Amino acid sequence: MSPQPLKVGLVGGGKGAFIAQPHQRAIHFDGTRRVTAAALLPDPKEAIEEAESWHYPIKGYPSYVEMIDEQASLPPEERLDYIVVVTPNHVHYDPAIRAVKAGIPVMCEKPLCMELKEAATLVREVRKRQVPFALAHTYLGHWTTRLSRYIVTKGLLGDIRWVDSHYIQGWLASRLEATGQMQASWRTNPKLAGGSGCGGDIGTHALMQLRYVTGQDVTDVSAHLETFVEGRALDDHFTAYAQLSGGGRALIRASQICIGHKNDLGITIAGSKGTLSWKQEDPEKLTIHLPDQPDRVYWRGAFSAGDGFLPKDKKLDALLGEPTIPAGHGEAFHDAYARLHRNFEADVRKYNAKRKFSCDGSEYASVEDGWTGMAFLDACLKSSAKKGAWTRMPKCP
Ligand SMILES: NC(=O)c1ccc[n+]([C@@H]2O[C@H](COP(=O)([O-])OP(=O)(O)OC[C@H]3O[C@@H](n4cnc5c(N)ncnc54)[C@H](O)[C@@H]3O)[C@@H](O)[C@H]2O)c1
Repeated sequence: MSPQPLKVGLVGGGKGAFIAQPHQRAIHFDGTRRVTAAALLPDPKEAIEEAESWHYPIKGYPSYVEMIDEQASLPPEERLDYIVVVTPNHVHYDPAIRAVKAGIPVMCEKPLCMELKEAATLVREVRKRQVPFALAHTYLGHWTTRLSRYIVTKGLLGDIRWVDSHYIQGWLASRLEATGQMQASWRTNPKLAGGSGCGGDIGTHALMQLRYVTGQDVTDVSAHLETFVEGRALDDHFTAYAQLSGGGRALIRASQICIGHKNDLGITIAGSKGTLSWKQEDPEKLTIHLPDQPDRVYWRGAFSAGDGFLPKDKKLDALLGEPTIPAGHGEAFHDAYARLHRNFEADVRKYNAKRKFSCDGSEYASVEDGWTGMAFLDACLKSSAKKGAWTRMPKCP
């Protein structure tokens, strides 16, 4: 008999919410997971009304506290298999810690929370209770991101000398928050977004992309957090120069004030043997530059290994053999999210069956990666306050 679809609960997602929609599509992508419950809005009455008019049947809860409490009291086979936290940053920690303590797996949006102290508590509780936990850094789910990680960590580019990881947008080039626009309003409010606006919102994606693809950590930062739009309380332009654990250097930069740029996330990795470049707005394509050779452009799924650059290797066979749509039928943002949910589902099923699971950051970002994102923001804020003084990153507890 085929397995029952996993039951997923949403925390947030009502009335014009953004990221809850890609998540719920990605959850339903494979038919093996479905959204069955939600606490969609902060107002209890509105949360129930919104759930009643949701586009497929779900059980609505007046609050995430009631959802998690009730679910925790159910027998394991009736309980939600995991929750997805898609609320603004100030409502990440509380639902996440409640679910972890109740033994319910969590996929949480980035950044992990508001403060490093909260992040440390989450790391401790996740480890203590051995509950699957994922941080939703979407771009790790691109097939080409996985191939990039293989290429760099296998040493095919040689020693990593320099990385430029960036996320450039233009949607906050004027005071959009003054119009009451929902996503801009909370993202520019330190009480709801945290100590860094642009850095927390998209700089953390640039950091995670760098760490995932290179397998290296940032050890020291020299950062400038700047605000170009008058009257804004948080940075809208973020630049961190960084020392990497492997000896190289990196620029991790993000901006929300570059008119015309949409979701311009990209990475360039320069090694002693070659350079890799990738852009999420053209995510099916990965370019490798080797000395004195024409550029090699790898399209998802449209090549075989053993071509003089990519070796014949079982690890690569597994990636190349992944059942997904044939090359040329484009994958993009939703497919990347679906890949994260698919990988997380595998760990949740093992957890349900009381088998060993990994959550080791190789397929989706872990709670430790979430802690590192918070530590990075903390170090960058301290450095920026001292005009870019080099500041050491703490070690994950
Ligand atoms: N991974 C990515 O690519 C990506 C992209 C966008 C946003 N995000 C992250 O996702 C989160 C949400 O961002 P968004 O742009 O979708 O925000 P949004 O403002 O569009 O949606 C937030 C939703 O949470 C609801 N909410 C707020 N407080 C609540 C509470 N106490 N209980 C229940 N619901 C509550 C709001 O009513 C709204 O429905 C943020 O942390 C953001 O950083 C991640």
